[in-house]
Order: sequence, then structure tokens, then C-alpha cells
Amino acid sequence: MKYSFPDNFWWGSASSALQTEGESLGGGKSATIWDTWYAQQPWRFHQQIGPAETSGFYQHWHEDIALLKRLNHNSFRTSLSWSRLIPDGSGEVNPEAVTFYNNVIDELLTQGITPFITLFHFDMPMAMQEQGGWENREVITAFRRYAGICFELFGDRVSHWFTFNEPIVPVEGGYLYDFHYPNIVDFKRAATVAYHTVLAHASAVQAYRTGQYNGEIGIVLNLTPSYPRSQNPADLTAAHRADLLFNRSFLDPVLRGEYPEDLVVLLKEHGQLPECQPGDAALIADGKIDLLGVNYYQPRRVKCRDSAINPEAPFMPEWFFDSYEMPGRKMNPWRGWEIYEPGIYDILTNLRENYGNPRCFISENGMGVENEQRFIQNGKIEDDYRIEFISEHLKWLHKGISEGCNCLGYHMWTFIDNWSWCNGYKNRYGFIQLDLASQKRIVKKSGEWFATASVNNGFNEVNEND
Ligand code: BG6
Repeated sequence: MKYSFPDNFWWGSASSALQTEGESLGGGKSATIWDTWYAQQPWRFHQQIGPAETSGFYQHWHEDIALLKRLNHNSFRTSLSWSRLIPDGSGEVNPEAVTFYNNVIDELLTQGITPFITLFHFDMPMAMQEQGGWENREVITAFRRYAGICFELFGDRVSHWFTFNEPIVPVEGGYLYDFHYPNIVDFKRAATVAYHTVLAHASAVQAYRTGQYNGEIGIVLNLTPSYPRSQNPADLTAAHRADLLFNRSFLDPVLRGEYPEDLVVLLKEHGQLPECQPGDAALIADGKIDLLGVNYYQPRRVKCRDSAINPEAPFMPEWFFDSYEMPGRKMNPWRGWEIYEPGIYDILTNLRENYGNPRCFISENGMGVENEQRFIQNGKIEDDYRIEFISEHLKWLHKGISEGCNCLGYHMWTFIDNWSWCNGYKNRYGFIQLDLASQKRIVKKSGEWFATASVNNGFNEVNEND
């Protein structure tokens, strides 16, 4: 193989509980913020499709794990649903949920697929949100208890745990940019939510260490490299600040056990620092991880602001930078995201050079495309664009590994077309096409390509891979 990967490289994909399970108010599960928001404002969701309409993993788990096997996955990440396992967030455990997750974990292991389990993927139980969500430290206590219960129930078979998936996203969506419930726009509250999420993460890591389980624990971060428009000092400062706010606000605590001094100074100067309590710094230091999941979809290009700030407008991250549209950039026009494959290499190189080369893997990378039916030939979606997307990213990943980066695997987003929050089923990401109405599943061309790459532990140039 021209691009071959180290032995035991993780080939797989990622998904999440709420985006696949269905039965969003069945099987003893209680509402998450998504169920509540959808009930209140269904028009905020593409084609008014809510979290009850999914690929139905709750019913189809056995058949879906057989499909994972067919795609030659040796590993697979999904999340547990807090509101399914502990419906009121902090009380009784739901036995039906325990049976369901035991079945899933046992079947994955039977098929030789290592389960990677996330504890929180955007799906705050409504019972916890009613207490203030991550703004309330009591919710951190409830999360630690939930994490401990998961470790006790499943830790004998699950040895790769992740506290959070993309913890900055609920901060951005729920407290800055209005794409998650509770739809608040308030930087100080956003900063508090982010800070308390770091404390919740560290608290779960502590619980894992105390229990001395046989495995490792980490977190999944969406690292979005900040590229300045130019080397002009004003552009460099803008990029540095965007990096502090969106990447290093989580990356530094989980890898170094502390916040970057520059970030603390910046927030302090603007009166946006969350309230700290004695013991927080020691807790954060205990939250250092064993394994980092890196989600990479797109770069962030920035320039210095060249317009004045409306003094009446709410304080926002954009006080420090403007977005920059680089001429000639390659776009995924359906999702509106730039495609920049070297970003994956830059992230890994940054981790190697500045963070001690931690054990890491690409935990999500993917391409959401609208109306893929137009690419059907002989009953199958011929998604050559996705094969190109994957292989071009893998080439940069390969280069990173050849230079010494400690990257252990590559998981695609996602296994089967799934419910994408407010975007519903608009942009499809799966290796497997889902017919929502009939629930029929058909492997796409990219799924077959990936299955071959996994078996070969690498690939040649795309058209030579057969
Ligand atoms: C990641 C999330 O941010 O990107 C997934 O972990 C999400 O939950 C995926 O579905 C794709 O993004 P979107 O917004 O197109 O669904």
C-alpha cells in the first residue's frame, strides 16, 4: 500500500445516542433539551424533523452492528444517553437502558469491534437544564455520579471512555449563537458554562481514576485551526485570540491541567471571567487525559476587525476578530464549510510540538451532502466526492504519523445517515444510506471503499484501491 498505517490502527466511525437511537421518549427515557425545544419550536428544525425520527438504533442495534462489521470496523464510538440511563438526571437508574447498552456493548465485542463510549454528546437531560444546566454546579455533581454509574455498569468491558464530545459546541450554540437550547446570547454565561464543563470533565476523570478501572479516559474536542489572513501583526493577534477562545479553552485544561494565561487575562480585561472557587485549580489539574479525540471538519480563517463595534451590542468573541473568506478556498457548498485537508496535519503537528505528542486519534471527520439521491446508480449512492474527501485527509494524517505524531486511528462521521440536530436529515454524512420512511439501509460506495482500506490497513491512490 502506498499509504499504509501502523499496526492496530483504529478504523471506524462515530455516532451519538440522540442522533441514532430514536425512542426519544420511550424505553423509560426522559426528555433532553432537544425534545423540549422541538416540542416548543418545531420550525427551527429542517423539515420539522425532530429527535424521535432517526435510524432507530434502539430497535436496529443488532442489524446495525452487523453492518459495522461489514464495513470492517475494528472500533466504533457512540454515546450513552444520560436521560435514558438516569431519567431524572440524579436519581434511579432505568433497568431497560442498562439492558439496551449491555446488549450493544456485548454485541460490538462479539463482532470484534472495540466500543469507544462518550458520556455526553450535546444531550442535556431536561431535568438538569431545569436546574440551570451547566450554569449550576449541582449539575456537575450529578454528572460525576452519572459517570461513576456508567463506569461501574460497563467499565468491565469498555476500556475507552470520553467525558464530552465537542464541549465548546453547546457553549456556542446554547449561549452565544442561538443554535442550541436554551438560546441565550450572553458571553459571561457562556464562559461559565464552558468553565463548569471543564470542571465536570475533570470530576468524571477523578471518578475514573478512583475506581481504578482497566482502561483509559479522554475527551473529544473539535479542534479548528485558526489561520490568519496574513502575517500582519493585527491578523496574527486576531488568530491567536480565536485560538484561545475556541481551541485552547478546552485543549489546555485537558492536556496541561491549566488554562492559558493569555485567555484568563483577556477575559478578565473585559469583565467576562467566570466565578472560580477554592479547589477548582486542583480539580482541573486532575482532569488530564489519557487519550484525545480530535474532530476536524474545517479550518477557521480570521482577520483583524476592520469595523467598529456597536457599543449597544452584546459582547461576543467577534469583538476580537472577523471571519475571513480566503479567495479560492475549496468549499463543501451544502454544509457551507471549507474543505482544507492539511488542517488535520497542522492539528497533529501542533499537538506534537506544543503538547508533548499525546495519544490521540481522529474521532470525527466527514462530509455532509444534500440530496445524495442524485448520485444513485444501480441502486447505490456513488459518493466519489466522499471517497476523495476521506483519502485526501488520510494522506495528511499519514504524513503526520510519518513525522512522529502519536495518532492511533481515524473515525469517520458517520456510520449511517443520521439526525443532525437543527439540520435534521438535510446533509447526509453516512457510509450507509438511510431511507427514513422504510428504514432501509444501503451501503454507499464510500462504505465499500472504507471497508477495503480498513482490511488493507491503508490504500493506494484512490482508483488503484481495488
Ligand atoms: C459534529 C458533531 O460537530 O459534527 C455531530 O459531533 C454532528 O453531532 C456533526 O452531527 C456534523 O455536523 P452537522 O451540524 O452538519 O450535523
